[in-house]
Amino acid sequence: MKLWGGRFTKETDALVHNFNASISFDQKFYQQDIKGSIAHVTMLEKQGILTAKECEDIVAGLEGIRKDIENQTLVIDGSQEDIHSFVEANLIARIGETGKKLHTGRSRNDQVALDMKLYVRDELVEMNHLLKTLLNELYQLMSNNTDTFMPGFTHLQKAQPVTLAHHLGAYFEMFQRDRSRLCDIYARMNYCPLGSGALAGTTYPLDRAYTAALLDFDGPTLNSMDSVSDRDYIIEMLSALSTIMMHLSRFCEEIIIWNTNEYRFVELDDAYSTGSSIMPQKKNPDIAELIRGKTGRVYGALVSILTTMKGLPLAYNKDMQEDKELTFDAMDTVKGCIALFTGMLSTMSFNKEVMEASAKNGFTNATDAADYLVNRGVPFRDAHGIIGQLVLACIERGCSLDELPLAEYKKICPVFEADIYDAISMKTCAEKRNTIGAPGTEAMEAVLKAYGEYLDAMNLCDTIKGNGKD
Ligand code: ARG
Repeated sequence: MKLWGGRFTKETDALVHNFNASISFDQKFYQQDIKGSIAHVTMLEKQGILTAKECEDIVAGLEGIRKDIENQTLVIDGSQEDIHSFVEANLIARIGETGKKLHTGRSRNDQVALDMKLYVRDELVEMNHLLKTLLNELYQLMSNNTDTFMPGFTHLQKAQPVTLAHHLGAYFEMFQRDRSRLCDIYARMNYCPLGSGALAGTTYPLDRAYTAALLDFDGPTLNSMDSVSDRDYIIEMLSALSTIMMHLSRFCEEIIIWNTNEYRFVELDDAYSTGSSIMPQKKNPDIAELIRGKTGRVYGALVSILTTMKGLPLAYNKDMQEDKELTFDAMDTVKGCIALFTGMLSTMSFNKEVMEASAKNGFTNATDAADYLVNRGVPFRDAHGIIGQLVLACIERGCSLDELPLAEYKKICPVFEADIYDAISMKTCAEKRNTIGAPGTEAMEAVLKAYGEYLDAMNLCDTIKGNGKD
């Protein structure tokens, strides 16, 4: 029996029922649905719309439904069109007539808007925690690798020497921004749509501020038409998730390159690699590849909901039911990817010698050699040309700048003295770059101190309730 069967004389076509139904996926937020209903009837009682006894019976019934779903004595089947109808029908079956009062002063339009907000809000909290774990891991790796030298690249060509701590720090910055985006979204979306009715509010004397407070919102939303048709927070969240995936994907791409036989900068742990069915020697970075691959799927969800929303007149339209499957999939995908990535990173080993040798062999200290001349009065443009000639000489001899004899240096420019070798040593090149944000020892110490304080701060996202627990 449908909740809205009264004005119909015919049964819904079976295909229509299935096409219209959302219960196969909106059952994911049964907890949020029940939580919202409990807040709703608690408010109805306070306002004298329900008696204390009625409220008590409904709350007990709803809690029973929740418990039974959890211990699997109640199975959510496909007989009802959505989770809202399922819970209400079940409540009526359990407690009888009083159950029919649950939906007083409410529509499924404000109900679904609330459920989805509650669900997304819970997910934001979880993702915030997962990102924090990843940031902690990065912080540890950075602290242990402030003097692990490696080439920094531009155009994927060796450019200047950096440290592993510095390279990882770039990702720390990205994930820190990602976290702050989640916090912003949480703060902006944290207003309660419940009590907006189908679109125009209701004549019952609902206390919307009270339900909002019961559900930990910062207040009620202020336009009932917007309340039932706003999905901006989903779009914002999918955009933030797409950015997280883009960051993870770039990192994965680097790990895949670093893990090749040609680079050998890192070795993935056996537990995070897979083999080949035909080539016995293979150890493949499938996890990194899958994370990179799943990025497309999350972008897809964002584009899908943006497209779904673009032509919708106010207020609620059934098109909006399409907000769920892809959003759930994207949130689950991102949570899985952050957790797996963190595991892969924490078990991976870094071949420090190979990294340092690679930095030395690619003329990454050429800029420092030019700076050496500049410090001795040679104009930079001339110094650039001189070092270019020296690099050519090295390529012809098959050696690095560190290995080129002083006589060769002097042949091209008499300004060079024996202290050139110290000036272009890997240590000097990386450790002396101490502008704010550079890989130098002092600069990195200051950054690590700031990151440590950031990670210790409990109130970073104080808009995210429960953040103190992380
Ligand atoms: N399953 C619907 C959705 O996800 C719930 C709201 C239904 N409202 C309605 N008027 N048909 O959007």
